This record gives sequence, C-alpha cells and structure tokens, in this order.
Amino acid sequence: MTGDLNGRSVIVTGAGSGIGRAAALAFAAQGDRVVVADLNADGADAIVTEIEQAGGTAVTVTGDLGEQDVVDRVTATAVERFGGVDVLVNNAGIMDSMSAPADVSDAEWNRVLRVNLTAPFMLTRAVLPHMLAAGRGVIVNTASEAALRGSAAGAAYTASKHGVVGLTKSLAVMYRKNGIRTNAICPGGTATAIAVEADRTAHGPTAIGPHFVNLGRVSQPEEQAAAILFLASDAANNINGAILPVDDGWSAV
Ligand SMILES: NC(=O)c1ccc[n+]([C@@H]2O[C@H](COP(=O)([O-])OP(=O)(O)OC[C@H]3O[C@@H](n4cnc5c(N)ncnc54)[C@H](O)[C@@H]3O)[C@@H](O)[C@H]2O)c1
Repeated sequence: MTGDLNGRSVIVTGAGSGIGRAAALAFAAQGDRVVVADLNADGADAIVTEIEQAGGTAVTVTGDLGEQDVVDRVTATAVERFGGVDVLVNNAGIMDSMSAPADVSDAEWNRVLRVNLTAPFMLTRAVLPHMLAAGRGVIVNTASEAALRGSAAGAAYTASKHGVVGLTKSLAVMYRKNGIRTNAICPGGTATAIAVEADRTAHGPTAIGPHFVNLGRVSQPEEQAAAILFLASDAANNINGAILPVDDGWSAV
C-alpha cells in the first residue's frame, strides 16, 4: 500500500471505531489526509490524535450522518481543509435486532435503513459534485455478508445492506464515464464494537440460518481496511461496481 503517497483527501465515516478506525489509520499512514466522521466524538477525537501523533493529518467531524447538516459539514470540511474529495468511504453502520420481517417495528426499520443506506446515499450525493468537477473520485462502501444472503442478520439490516450493493452498482454504472469508481466490501464477522440489538438466536434458524456454523474465522478490522485501501488505490483502477466478500470464504459455502 505504499504506492499512494499522494496526500489525497479521504472521508471515512464511522472512523471512530472498528473497520472505519483501521481504514482511517491506514490511509493516514500512507500520507492521505482524513476526515474522521463519526457520531461518537470521543472515538473520533482519539483516532485523530493517534493519527497526528504518528505524523499524519486528520480532522474530526462529529454528528449523526442521517442529518443533512452533518453531511454538509463533512463535505465542506474535506473541501475547505483538504481541497476536495478524492476518496469517500461510506462505512458507518449499525446492526439490527435480528428480527424476522413480520417482527420488524417501524422504529427498527427506520433506524437501520436511515443509518446504513440513506446516510451513505446522502453523503455520496453531497460529494459527487466535487468529484464530477475534478473528473475523478473513488467511493468504497462497507456492505456486509448480509448483502449476499438472507441469513446473516435480521430483515432490516439485510435489506439495508442489499440496498448498499444496489447503490454501489448504480454509482458504478452512472459515473463510469466521469472517472468515478464505486465498489463495496462485504465483511464477514469482524472483531469490532458493533452490537447486535437482541439475542442472536431470538428468531431461530429462519433469521440466523445454518450458514453460521460455516462463517469462517472472525477477521480483524485491519483486514477489512486493507480491502478498502486496495479498492481506493490506483491498483484497482479497472475495478468498478465490484462487490468484494472479505469473509474467509463464508460466501463461498
Ligand atoms: N463487525 C462486523 O462483523 C461487520 C460485518 C459486516 C459488516 N459490517 C459493517 O462494517 C461497518 C463498520 O462497522 P464496525 O463493525 O466497524 O462497527 P463499530 O460499531 O465498531 O463502528 C461503527 C462506527 O459507526 C459510527 N456510527 C454509527 N451510526 C452513526 C451515525 N448515524 N452517524 C455517524 N456515525 C455513526 C459508530 O459511532 C461507530 O464508531 C458497518 O457498516 C457494519 O454494518 C461489520
């Protein structure tokens, strides 16, 4: 990953923890400048401090990415501080309650779809004019194993992550002639702070599925970050609209 020491302007959402944190650290380590966007101010500030102490450049934008004013602040910060948006990583996300479709409340559906699908759409819409003006840009979305199958989460999370795949493919097709590439990673189980809002077995095998016994080893956030950095690098210049499982073969089972 040492070929991209070009000081790109990179936005990473959910960078206060887990996969986003690992990605922010890795981008900064190769010389990119990072907007750390997260709801959690303490987590975001801690990672910015860590980046700065290592000699890198990063800035925090705190807030709920489902709010338009937060989306606008994230975009404006990247443009004003770092001169544009070269890379957008839509990574912030939340789990659901593992509810089967008949059991999903309006509150659960709206909360999960808003954070996992609507917020990435809003931030993407906000940065696109800057990427279009520059004639280039890279977007990497964090989807999930639950974007590939129906048994890895509840209905709301599964639908939200399938939606992220649809958004990814739409962006890839619509902007291929504008120098903008969009891809997604689909992490399998990864050792982060993400919390399931309910007993994982609350809805039995219909929600969990037999694949859980085959899910492979739990990955480290750095392994997911490595895939994000690859897709954001020039080495992936001909990769557009790809949905990449990073799951120790779970999706191959
Ligand atoms: N950990 C896994 O096993 C796993 C598997 C598949 C996919 N994913 C996906 O990976 C992504 C990162 O999750 P993680 O595992 O690193 O979890 P995490 O909880 O460690 O990190 C997620 C971060 O997103 C932030 N966030 C949540 N809602 C937000 C909002 N509305 N606005 C701004 N920030 C918000 C949180 O504060 C947190 O810092 C998510 O999209 C998740 O769905 C994770």
